[in-house]
Amino acid sequence: MAEFKGKVVIVTGGALGIGGVTAEEFANRGALVVVADIDRDAGEVIEGRIRAEGNDAVFVEADVSVSRQCQIVVERAVGEFGGLDILFNNVGIQPPTSYLNVENTPEETWDRIVGVNLKSHFLMAKFAIPEMRKRGGGVVINNASVQGLQSQRLVPAYAASKGGVLSLTRQMALDYAAENIRVLAICPGTIDTDMVRTVASLEGGDIEETLDRYGASHPIGRIGTGQDISNLVMFLASDAASFMTGSHVIVDGGYMALGAWAGGAGSFQD
Ligand SMILES: NC(=O)c1ccc[n+]([C@@H]2O[C@H](COP(=O)([O-])OP(=O)(O)OC[C@H]3O[C@@H](n4cnc5c(N)ncnc54)[C@H](O)[C@@H]3O)[C@@H](O)[C@H]2O)c1
Repeated sequence: MAEFKGKVVIVTGGALGIGGVTAEEFANRGALVVVADIDRDAGEVIEGRIRAEGNDAVFVEADVSVSRQCQIVVERAVGEFGGLDILFNNVGIQPPTSYLNVENTPEETWDRIVGVNLKSHFLMAKFAIPEMRKRGGGVVINNASVQGLQSQRLVPAYAASKGGVLSLTRQMALDYAAENIRVLAICPGTIDTDMVRTVASLEGGDIEETLDRYGASHPIGRIGTGQDISNLVMFLASDAASFMTGSHVIVDGGYMALGAWAGGAGSFQD
């Protein structure tokens, strides 16, 4: 498969987790990939792995909540590969210490989560779009979450950031549709990455058993993989999705289809 041959792609938070799998998949399909990540060691590993497979990638160490660093990421993409076609705004954090209600959430925690999860998407798009325009179009895919659609207790900043990502997606799509720049969001359910394993470890038991329990709460009976998300990103970034913009796609093993009332009074049980 080489449907992205010659396309230049930036993946933020692209060293590990969902971003890492997606960066490798883009490279396997012919794209020239810029991995932007704060984790230098992991970034250098993935750059090396992609190159060892005979594909092309460059790692740029960057904190994408910082304007100048986003600008540098885009400049490197253009400098190394001659332009920019696709931006996967994947980055997001949910630090274990942030599980607090609003009154106990330190302002710095709020600012960091919203800065990384939402402001980075704005900043990266701000610098990426002029380059996409020069190529006659492009695609921006924003990683939101099912937590942008429904919520849980003790995640005010994460919830607000993910709702904001969905709203920003709809809004940006309108500004750029006429220029052939599509803007889409994805809403993953629980995906097996370091982020989820860190949260699972807080429960204190065996992590694999905890992940199995998380999986059992998804109608499809398992949690997702980075590959499940990457598959969707490949489709949305491709010309096969050329009539899609301004919308979000849920990829969650049926999680959002399940009513909060399901299993309660009046519902049928096995
Ligand atoms: N894992 C899930 O269950 C799940 C579910 C829904 C949505 N998401 C979203 O998917 C995205 C990726 O999540 P993941 O589970 O792969 O996370 P992860 O923690 O496994 O990986 C995140 C990557 O982002 C990098 N990163 C963190 N802060 C950064 C910064 N300021 N600048 C640049 N890079 C930074 C990390 O170094 C890491 O490589 C996030 O937006 C997350 O909210 C994840």
